[in-house]
Amino acid sequence: MKLKLAVIPGDGIGPEIVREARKALDKTAEKFGHEIEYTELLMGGASIDVHGVPLTDETIQAAKSSDAVLMGSIGGNAATSPWYQLPPDRRPEAGLLKLRKSLGLFANLRPAILYKELRHACPLREEISEKGFDMMIMRELTGGLYFGERRTEEIDGVLTAVDTLVYNENEIRRIAKKAFDIAGKRRGKVCSVDKANVLDSSRLWRKTVEEVAKDYPDIELSHMLVDNCAMQLVKAPSQFDVILTENMFGDILSDEASMVTGSIGMLASASLNDTKFGLYEPSGGSAPDIAGQDIANPIATVLSAAMLLRYSFDLDREADAIEAAVQQVLTEGYRTGDIMSEGCTKVGTAEMGDLIAARI
Ligand code: IPM
Ligand code: MG
Repeated sequence: MKLKLAVIPGDGIGPEIVREARKALDKTAEKFGHEIEYTELLMGGASIDVHGVPLTDETIQAAKSSDAVLMGSIGGNAATSPWYQLPPDRRPEAGLLKLRKSLGLFANLRPAILYKELRHACPLREEISEKGFDMMIMRELTGGLYFGERRTEEIDGVLTAVDTLVYNENEIRRIAKKAFDIAGKRRGKVCSVDKANVLDSSRLWRKTVEEVAKDYPDIELSHMLVDNCAMQLVKAPSQFDVILTENMFGDILSDEASMVTGSIGMLASASLNDTKFGLYEPSGGSAPDIAGQDIANPIATVLSAAMLLRYSFDLDREADAIEAAVQQVLTEGYRTGDIMSEGCTKVGTAEMGDLIAARI
């Protein structure tokens, strides 16, 4: 098969971790007889430095004309980087939000798995971590608070900021359907997370999800308030299969879930629309403080590349091969600094990438 991939290394650790994911993709392609054509694109701070804006129309077009996009991470240190002297709509993050919106990527899948080998890296008490967990956070990605109207104005001499949280039932229905479909391929449970005791948007969310559930009699649906969910994630994470939630709640809960797995450097993600097209990126950020030091964990990006093969190309055997290689490297005791523990072998970003590629 011929795979046309757009690659956005981005900022901070982005270029390093993407390089390692490409090693895994190249090895997989070689092994299974595929051909990958890469087109590198600029986004975020890297694009600001060259074009003055975090995302150009040409970049959007180039991304659209590929089969899938592999991304590293974008953004810098807000306190020190000149990118953050720019107006908010010209900063690195604005580029990522615009790209997701332009590509219609409404469904963000963030799997959070506690690997047996990494149980001691899990910050939870042993009686909780020994149960393990394997959940899929489904975050709505192109609506809600991050895309509503916003403004800051002075009212009677007082600075006042407004952000609006808008959802219509169609936006809720399409992400709910995706969540139920995915739950059907897993353990058949969806926990929809909202704040229906306060927010109208959450009440509509809950009502719509319940309507969609009628078409999925085999899926067990439950509802949970977001504050309770934040607590349950550290108290009893093994109860979750698919967590379905709106944009901001998903942003926050997925960071929490990732840390419970031991490190945010382990979490892959896929952002999908209604076609096979998708954008694949690690859940973590650009970590500018450790950029360029060969210490970042590339595993989340390598696993994102596996998701790319699985969801955009239906190459399940190939994706399995990458995931198995990651598992094997962990079993053999290789660790980057973030997941290091006694008795293991500490390796850098590039060596971790080489070790994984060699096991594909
Ligand atoms: C994420 C990030 C982004 C988001 C930022 C960088 C805009 O935190 O992918 O979770 O909030 O979606
Ligand atoms: Mg986030």
